[in-house]
Amino acid sequence: MAEALQAVAARVAPGVRTRDLDTFAEEYLRRRGALPAFKGYRDYPFSLCVSVNEEVVHGLPSERRLKAGDLVSLDLGTIVEGYYGDSALTVPVGEVSEEASRLLRVTEEALMRGIGAVRLGGHLSDISHAVQTHVEVHGFSVVRIFVGHGIGKALHEDPQIPNYGSPGTGPRLRPGMVLAIEPMVNAGGPEVEILPDNWTAVTKDRSLSAHFEHTIALTEEGVEILTQV
Ligand code: MF3
Ligand code: CO
Repeated sequence: MAEALQAVAARVAPGVRTRDLDTFAEEYLRRRGALPAFKGYRDYPFSLCVSVNEEVVHGLPSERRLKAGDLVSLDLGTIVEGYYGDSALTVPVGEVSEEASRLLRVTEEALMRGIGAVRLGGHLSDISHAVQTHVEVHGFSVVRIFVGHGIGKALHEDPQIPNYGSPGTGPRLRPGMVLAIEPMVNAGGPEVEILPDNWTAVTKDRSLSAHFEHTIALTEEGVEILTQV
């Protein structure tokens, strides 16, 4: 999973069609004996979500060609031996604005802070709170309408994991849990709207957005990031 997403990210360059990234991702997974988890999920027609600039998540691969200055979020899901993995990252195309690179950095840091907030016996919303705090301290905003999720024998399992909220509430964190944590962070306001294609989520104010996601497992020893090379 991690290797596949890294390989897709390495192909991001000016002039590349977002459709080519999807084809590459699907072929990469199948060659390695994995299945694309998104394809056919709620009738989603592709293996990869490619969300450019003001697109938040669920961007549809197309004939669109990437250009220098774009911010591209890549979201990929796989099934290996019946178990699901889900991971996303955001990469710059060539040189990007100062704001864009700050947004990237803060969003990835927020994901890692969220993961770092996991304590066995702690609460689920400790993750949410850590993510939100880091994002807002840097003047960005957290998307509310999409959340992280439990994952395992299905792509989306309980519990939902909002990227905002007070610490110390919700289910206790315990060994055996597998969670997909996925902050979506906007440079402007938190509001999102869905385009007429019924998939692509964009920021209402058309500000830039970034997305990072890891699937993690909680064991007696602590946290293991499953979607890291
Ligand atoms: N990472 C996204 C999620 O967890 C991807 C789902 S998109 C879909 O919801 F294409 F599979 F629907
Ligand atoms: Co997810």
